[in-house]
Amino acid sequence: MEEIERIIETRDWLKSHGIDNIEVGIVLGTGLGELASHIEVEKEFSYNVIPNFPIATVEFHFGKLICGKLGGKRVLAMQGRYHYYEGYSMNQVVLPIRVMKMLGAKHVLLSNAAGAINLNFKKGGLMLVDDHINLQPDNPLRGPNYNDLGPRFPDMSQPYDGRLNQLIREIAQEKGIALAEGVYASVAGPMLETRAEYRMLGRFGADAVGMSTVPEVIACNHMGLPCACVSVLTDECDPDNLKPVSVEEIVATAKQAEAKLTAVYIELIKRI
Ligand code: HPA
Repeated sequence: MEEIERIIETRDWLKSHGIDNIEVGIVLGTGLGELASHIEVEKEFSYNVIPNFPIATVEFHFGKLICGKLGGKRVLAMQGRYHYYEGYSMNQVVLPIRVMKMLGAKHVLLSNAAGAINLNFKKGGLMLVDDHINLQPDNPLRGPNYNDLGPRFPDMSQPYDGRLNQLIREIAQEKGIALAEGVYASVAGPMLETRAEYRMLGRFGADAVGMSTVPEVIACNHMGLPCACVSVLTDECDPDNLKPVSVEEIVATAKQAEAKLTAVYIELIKRI
């Protein structure tokens, strides 16, 4: 089956189960599922019942697709995302994003847990992603281009939507939430980086590093779907003073910071 047929099959299945007219798609990253509890749920599906959604492998991801009302808009939220390191193809990683677009989504809001490369940025803080560096060894646009989705050679001069970013800055300021801003580098993972790799990432111009998001942002840009991303900084990647960090600590730090992200995104959805 061609990828485009899989996307259509998934869209049709969701439509036939009452999911349609989506205004905003949301992707909740590691340790950041709480936003979903604010949704007035209309429908919700475990990923393992949705055609072409691979079965999620990482335990701390709930793997649920939730449709409902939030901030007066109809949203479709992914509680847990697919990562390249889990072994999925890039087409599998972004299938839900492509389906969101086909269900009407006009905006996509992403989130993730990331390591702070910029040492002025502190663990537990938020970073608005204004640009990225793709260091994953693949991307979802390799292979035949589906002209119905977007162009062969998409522009990436402003991968994160300027208007959404401006709203996020204003909302964070109004709420007294400190918001750093910078460049997110995506690596394949699943291991965290060595000291030499963190040093290299800093010299490359990255302010934060993580294992997700960029494939989804590439898919959004391909389809002309405005997106934004806020990272929760979960560890400080100081190559000259690197302490061991576990994924459990990363998840715990993301949990501590998630209320700030939730507050910003709920207000953003109201104002979109
Ligand atoms: N590296 C890669 N991914 C991450 C990190 C990190 O330091 N922290 C959270 N996700």
